[in-house]
Amino acid sequence: MAYYVTTPIYYVNAEPHLGHAYSTMAADVLARHMRQRGEDVFFLTGTDEHGEPIELAAERAGVTPQELADRNAAKFEALLPIIDATNDFFIRTSDPRHAERVAEIMQRVYDNGWVDKGTYEGWYCPRCADFKSEREQAPERTCPIHEIPLEEVREENWFFRLSAFQAQLEGLYEERPDFVVPEVRRNEALSFIEGGLEDVSLSRPKLKWGMPLPWDPEQRMYVWFDALLNYVTALGFAREGEDLTERFWPADLHVMAKEILKFHAVIWPALLWAADLEPPKRMAIHGFLLMGEKKMSKSLGNVLDPFEAIERYGADALRFYCFREVSFGQDGAISTAGFEARYETELANDFGNLASRVLAMVDRYRDATVPPAQVDAVLAEDFEGAVERFSGLLDRAELSQALEEAWRLVRRLNRYVEETRPWELAKDEADPERLDEVLYNLAEGLRVVTLLLVPYLPQTSDRLLAALSEDSRALAELGSHPGGQRIDRLPPLFPKIETGS
Ligand code: MSP
Repeated sequence: MAYYVTTPIYYVNAEPHLGHAYSTMAADVLARHMRQRGEDVFFLTGTDEHGEPIELAAERAGVTPQELADRNAAKFEALLPIIDATNDFFIRTSDPRHAERVAEIMQRVYDNGWVDKGTYEGWYCPRCADFKSEREQAPERTCPIHEIPLEEVREENWFFRLSAFQAQLEGLYEERPDFVVPEVRRNEALSFIEGGLEDVSLSRPKLKWGMPLPWDPEQRMYVWFDALLNYVTALGFAREGEDLTERFWPADLHVMAKEILKFHAVIWPALLWAADLEPPKRMAIHGFLLMGEKKMSKSLGNVLDPFEAIERYGADALRFYCFREVSFGQDGAISTAGFEARYETELANDFGNLASRVLAMVDRYRDATVPPAQVDAVLAEDFEGAVERFSGLLDRAELSQALEEAWRLVRRLNRYVEETRPWELAKDEADPERLDEVLYNLAEGLRVVTLLLVPYLPQTSDRLLAALSEDSRALAELGSHPGGQRIDRLPPLFPKIETGS
């Protein structure tokens, strides 16, 4: 079955930071997991290159918007292999192939009668490229996200007739209770809808860096319309000579943080209906990574550089840390000290040591071959249904709970080592069958848990699965292995790193 997952497309007014990497890593965890389930996966990410935020940043930097976009898009793209993202395409909205398709779709929206002319009066944040209603404003007419004064705007605009979709949106939320997860975000979106929808401005007359409206080229398209449509347009040109739209639309999952909920959960389905397209199946909304008490963001100047963190600890450790430290869906603070602590206690001790010990014992006591044996009843209880639970959690985009489910097995295997004390069983070999059984169960448990961890720890799991002679990544064939395979010893998976930066 097709599985299409996306990240937000990121603004190129600044360089990527860990907040952006976080959404991309989350989508990548899901993409990798779904591939392990045999799904036909398409994973899209990219950059949002039009609009006032980019125009303003380019002006400040003394370059053209396209130059700034080229420079920063390259940095976003360069981050992908570093965080081990397995995206299938990278879309840039300044790509003429995107523009062509946006014009086509927006013309359809216009022809279908969903666009009106009117006067806009309101309060606008140039960094969000968004108007803020009275209830969305922070005190003293400031932007709650960027903490800057809002601008009063009065202008002639085209409007998208969002208000006409009120009932249809309410119907969608009723029919599909998991359209937006987690539930708190669903309720937020639904109450926004139930509060009464107003038409939204579709164009800005003053904007220079944006796409012209096909029916009124004097006006430039409000960046959010051009941006949202990336999820559809990309499918049209991601593969030379092939249109993937039929195969992958509607998208299975849009991943993003909560500040862009309204655009995706309210405006986006309506825009798609207006263009005779289906809304996406679901969206997963996560919280903010915080540094101290504030959202990590370039404009607040408190970013953790993912390039630096990865150079020191590797991409696996960063991926692991983010989903472990911050419960996916909620806001959570991250810190270098927290990262180092989890690296040491969980990755190096819990998992790295378990792997080293198991491989070393099989090597030493059984000549590097896993002895064929039966599943130990005391472990069967813990492993029974674990894959289904893990997959079920990821179906609901519960990335931290799924990781905890796998980690529960890691801890269980460590306890099993302590309970069975294989080194004592090996001393006199009074009961060689029991030692066979214990080693088999450890190797098998390690193989299963490592297969589950593939999406979180792609590099480590590759090394470890190779050492366990496991070629397949498929979860369907996870049933217990009969044993008899060769293993290799490995140097520590998470070596000690000098701290005290
Ligand atoms: N261009 C729009 C999105 C258009 S999607 C059709 C945009 N871009 S952005 O560069 O501001 O990226 C916002 C997204 O980056 C968030 O929704 C989230 O996915 C990610 N994050 C940016 N900072 C983040 C944190 N501090 N914490 C978690 N995610 C963060 O909005």
